Amino acid sequence: MADYEEYKKDSKPLTLFNDETGQSFQIPVLKGNDGPDVLDIRDLYKETGMFTYDPGFTSTASCKSSITFIDGHKGILRHRGYNIKDLAANSDFIEVCYLLLHGELPSSTDKEKFEKVITDHTMLHEQLVYLYRGFRRDAHPMAIMVGVVGALSAFYHDSTDFSDLNQRMIASHRLIAKIATIGAMAYKYSIGQPFVYPKNNLSYAENFLHMTFSVPTEEYKVNPLIANAIDKFFILHADHEQNASTSTVRLAGSSGANPFACIAAGIASLWGPAHGGANEAVIQMLEEISDIKNIPEYISKAKDKNDSFRLMGFGHRVYKNYDPRAEVMKKIAHDVLKELNKLEDPLLKIAIELEKIALQDQYFIDKKLYPNVDFYSGIILKAIGFPTSMFTVLFAIGRTVGWISQWKEMIEDPINKIGRPRQLYTGSQSREYQQLETREKKSIFKWLWKSK
Ligand code: CMC
Repeated sequence: MADYEEYKKDSKPLTLFNDETGQSFQIPVLKGNDGPDVLDIRDLYKETGMFTYDPGFTSTASCKSSITFIDGHKGILRHRGYNIKDLAANSDFIEVCYLLLHGELPSSTDKEKFEKVITDHTMLHEQLVYLYRGFRRDAHPMAIMVGVVGALSAFYHDSTDFSDLNQRMIASHRLIAKIATIGAMAYKYSIGQPFVYPKNNLSYAENFLHMTFSVPTEEYKVNPLIANAIDKFFILHADHEQNASTSTVRLAGSSGANPFACIAAGIASLWGPAHGGANEAVIQMLEEISDIKNIPEYISKAKDKNDSFRLMGFGHRVYKNYDPRAEVMKKIAHDVLKELNKLEDPLLKIAIELEKIALQDQYFIDKKLYPNVDFYSGIILKAIGFPTSMFTVLFAIGRTVGWISQWKEMIEDPINKIGRPRQLYTGSQSREYQQLETREKKSIFKWLWKSK
């Protein structure tokens, strides 16, 4: 990739005129290696005294990155130049982790070494077990994930210094390795079963299934087709450019916060139903629909401006076409349900019919709303035996490598600055301070008296 300053020089600037002041400002246009050109407005405030306003960052590139590329209109997702469908068909999750972190697919020797490094870090500090015991048994596993991952910084002091390359690498390996153990333990804790230690002769996905579903009293044999499905699930969730949780990780990291704290912040952001929490919400929605005959009613609700209901697993900020991950996920769902003799699963039938009806409906066509990665993933996880509360945990396990790769890229970027957005202020202008006795008696906080 061309050096940043180099491609800045190549750009033809765009001129911004201010009719009121007659002032003009030249905005350099940056060209990436793919995707739309980008206006470089870094000097805008200094030169014009104006900010830009872009709630939800719909038109704002917050950073430059060479990890993931998405063309939402064509439904393309590539990691380091490789198409997600090729990666899902040919690679395993460990290879994709290496690719995201290091920029290239590994040679067989490097893959072996990398796998060994990751498996060497799968165990958790034994003291962390007591942390789990502090949670209620009915705690949402994502709440446990936020707490335990944040707490890693209290245990691994030798990898919290972001300015040391060696520590950054160790923290990255630790997070990729331990996140699966932490997720499996969150599940075990919620059902009152003993924690199961990792087994390093298993692959990443097999190990996760072993820690989640095996019990000390019985032999557990991982079903290779299910392990393959979980491996693909992790690949499909591994990274997704500057989404809400990744941006959260970057913003938290921009202040120099340690990597464990940053990933905990990313997990918190992922939890929301508009983001990673959607896979859980899809199953709840399908269960609520409960019968194919009720689909039209829910389609109408989704289209009704006065109803807050949305078709969960549909629509995406970036994809205005079929999410390529959803295509792969649909095929995996079919394979898993076939293997488990669950092809007659009523939720799958509702999902397929719902997708069919929505894709033919003018509202969804006009707004370019297609199934996203979450639409079929919940069906797979449910069939395998995961409770819905674990769905977003699996998303977090897959995404950790993306978060840490993006965090590392940001730290290593010479133009890395603390993230500090500005605002369009809409509050009161300067006013004189009022002493308590002179303030109006009428309370504006009426709701306070009603709440307990
Ligand atoms: N059902 C019905 N209408 C929808 C939906 C939906 N799922 N998604 C968007 N719309 C409508 C929305 O009402 C709006 O209509 P109008 O222009 O008339 O006001 C229009 O489409 C644009 O929606 P938006 O909310 O402005 O778009 P956004 O880019 O801000 O939101 C989204 C993207 C993913 C939050 C949204 O599509 C949504 O809420 N989808 C359901 C939740 C979901 O599946 N989330 C998972 C996202 S993929 C996994 C991940 O990356 O985390």
